[in-house]
Amino acid sequence: MNRFYELTERRGTRSVKWDLAEELYQDSDVLPMWVADMDFKAPEAVVQALTQRVEHGIFGYTIADDPLKSAIIEWLNKRHNWNVERNWITYSPGVIPSLHMAVQSLTGKNDAILIQTPVYPPFSSVVKDHDRTLVENPLVFNEGIYSIDFSDFEAKIQDHQVKLFILCNPHNPVGRVWTRAELEQINDICLKHGVIVISDEIHADLIFPGHTHIPIASLSKEASNNTITCLSPTKTFNLAGLQASYLITENDEARGLLTDHFNKQGMFMLNTLGITAMEAAYLHGEEWLEELIETLEMNRNYVTQRLHEETETLRVTPAEGTYLLWIDCRKLNLSQPELISFMQKKAKVGLNEGASFGEEGTGFMRMNIAAPKKLIEEGVSRIIQAVNNDKTKT
Ligand SMILES: Cc1ncc(COP(=O)(O)O)c(C=O)c1O
Repeated sequence: MNRFYELTERRGTRSVKWDLAEELYQDSDVLPMWVADMDFKAPEAVVQALTQRVEHGIFGYTIADDPLKSAIIEWLNKRHNWNVERNWITYSPGVIPSLHMAVQSLTGKNDAILIQTPVYPPFSSVVKDHDRTLVENPLVFNEGIYSIDFSDFEAKIQDHQVKLFILCNPHNPVGRVWTRAELEQINDICLKHGVIVISDEIHADLIFPGHTHIPIASLSKEASNNTITCLSPTKTFNLAGLQASYLITENDEARGLLTDHFNKQGMFMLNTLGITAMEAAYLHGEEWLEELIETLEMNRNYVTQRLHEETETLRVTPAEGTYLLWIDCRKLNLSQPELISFMQKKAKVGLNEGASFGEEGTGFMRMNIAAPKKLIEEGVSRIIQAVNNDKTKT
């Protein structure tokens, strides 16, 4: 059987997605399709490497050594055509910690930081948590497609004297994989106004056929010097619980400030199993990833087709990357609390509510499609049934 069809019980494993469902929804029947991890087992090579490491039985302090860096460098070169030098890489337990560290070490109190809403909620909280000024360049939603309003982007930078821009590429939740032309325009504007770019590229490996992920730092030497890229194998290979990620920048000064800040928080080491998994995934996970992408593409097409054919109201934003679908539910004509309640209580699916990504997300829901087809079929059928039941009642 195809490894991505296999149903693995996750309840009872301290899974945030599955074991918090009852507490969150007060209903054990709600099918969780929210937090961004996958209901698939990691590549066999990763499981084997971890098993071997666990069987050793000693879990002392561990070196993130040269072979680990080589595995990262080779992966970025092979998958993203990006040549990264060894000393540009520093480690972090996660991309969220990296965002916090970047904001704290590269900006000062009240400095303006720009984000593009709707976007992954920690982007706004990392700005507010450290008393920086949040500036938003809302994405434009036109005929079902999201794009960037570049005049507003530049105006916001000038008006607020923005110091830092946090880019999400591929974009969570709208699923855009920004094109070279878009990235060049972002980069040009940021360089022109002295805005540092933090590029969260955690979804970089999850790209659908027909699209290409371009690391913004790979555009030019200037871009490379102006960007701090946050990356991780944890989304790609379903390793989020192992907490291992890294940052890349060619800019010595920025790297120095970041490293110093990490060190001062006592964060200078990765955990043993995170190191083992990262290396095994990058060295041996490519074939598994290709199969994963085929599965995700199938799921994306399936959900889109069924929701479009069997409801008149729900529309799926075309996802170019990630395993998150951004569903426009505005035609249901429900208030945000009503929409949340509709999905939880009537459809019995646990989705992320759109407004948590910024007010432009009101009326949308985010669905995680990284699950075996059977679960996806179940979730979609529940939603369609609830929508059509409601329709017959009105
Ligand atoms: C855009 C983005 N950045 C960061 C993260 C979380 O990263 P980490 O688990 O490494 O902190 C996620 C998780 O969903 C994400 O979607």
